Amino acid sequence: MFRFSNGNRQIRQPFPHFPSNLQYEDQRHMTKRIDNFSAGPATLPAAVLEEARENLLSLGDSGIGILEHSHRSKTFLSVYEKAVAYCRLVAGIPDDYDILFLQGGASLQFVMLPMNFLGSDQTADYLNTGAWSKKAIAEAKRFGNVHIACTSEDRNFCYIPDEVSQSDSPAYVHFTSNNTIYGTEFSTEPGLPEGAFLACDASSDIFSRPMNVSRYGIIYAGAQKNLGPSGVTLVIIRKDLVARGNSELPTMLRYSTHADKDSMFNTPPTFGIYIVGLILKWIEEQGGLTAMQEKNRNKAGRLYDFLDSSDMFTPTADRNSRSMMNVTFITGNNDLDAKCIAEATAAGLDGLKGHRSVGGLRASIYNAFPPEGVDRLVQFLKDFELKYG
Ligand SMILES: Cc1ncc(COP(=O)(O)O)c(C=O)c1O
Repeated sequence: MFRFSNGNRQIRQPFPHFPSNLQYEDQRHMTKRIDNFSAGPATLPAAVLEEARENLLSLGDSGIGILEHSHRSKTFLSVYEKAVAYCRLVAGIPDDYDILFLQGGASLQFVMLPMNFLGSDQTADYLNTGAWSKKAIAEAKRFGNVHIACTSEDRNFCYIPDEVSQSDSPAYVHFTSNNTIYGTEFSTEPGLPEGAFLACDASSDIFSRPMNVSRYGIIYAGAQKNLGPSGVTLVIIRKDLVARGNSELPTMLRYSTHADKDSMFNTPPTFGIYIVGLILKWIEEQGGLTAMQEKNRNKAGRLYDFLDSSDMFTPTADRNSRSMMNVTFITGNNDLDAKCIAEATAAGLDGLKGHRSVGGLRASIYNAFPPEGVDRLVQFLKDFELKYG
């Protein structure tokens, strides 16, 4: 137990790493933010965080903080409606799609998707491009047949396969648009056999570039990278599919339950929905998805350009499969990787350790990650190379 003194009073502080009110009072005007390259939860726009801070004690002039509003209150309903409206606007989502805010992360979508749409005598095609695809595949196998339409496991998922083999009449085709761990990203959607719908785990690149929503049956994404805090999952799903889902399932596991009740069958993740709404508004103010794509290409391009010119660092993903969101690279020497990560952390460049299954370094530079942070990383890597190269 850690104790510290407030004048004459001793205050018990069971969790010394959680700032107490007193520390918060002292620190709130000198917030220092460092470059956070975490793969998720990840950097969010400072303007959004500031607006949220303002609304913690009272949302607008309601006198009730955003965390405290009933989800049935008029004030919160307006927050929810704005989030849905901005989502439709930003991504150009047609009216025949429902927008749902669910819980359970992308991991629950790995289950809900086949549970709703894959009968035990049916087959779904899955493109296996990494650990998250594999998790989705494992869940689908509990409900029906899975055909692996392609895999890049032979080279530890460092590329997106060109060839996809389709099964005869799959219920749907599932792919992971960006592979967070391996730094690879699809440049276009895979082909779709007639009668099937396209299902996409877009957790780590949603709204980083324009998307043609009408090509998909369902798109889902945990919010904690490009959209907001963890705890809310965005699901964009065609209405005819919602109606077609397995009606025998437990209530909470049917898409129709959530669509019929505007994501409020039970208490929704209100704070998450609020932040997602602010972030979608922020994206719109930045110029929408086309502007996002340009900024993301620019940021990632500067980092890849350096890596390509470096004698010490090498990107791990094949050139034509490179992700704009997660840039993975290695020195080829584990000790040097570790030294680089440690020195970067000390220099205020945090979260660069690659996923344990790949090693090396990973810079996650989602929509809200500032371009100046990428420049600081490039400069740091250049200096590191000069010092130890
Ligand atoms: C592409 C992808 N899919 C799924 C997940 C799992 O998401 P969740 O933790 O929201 O279940 C992640 C998490 O990082 C991810 O990057």
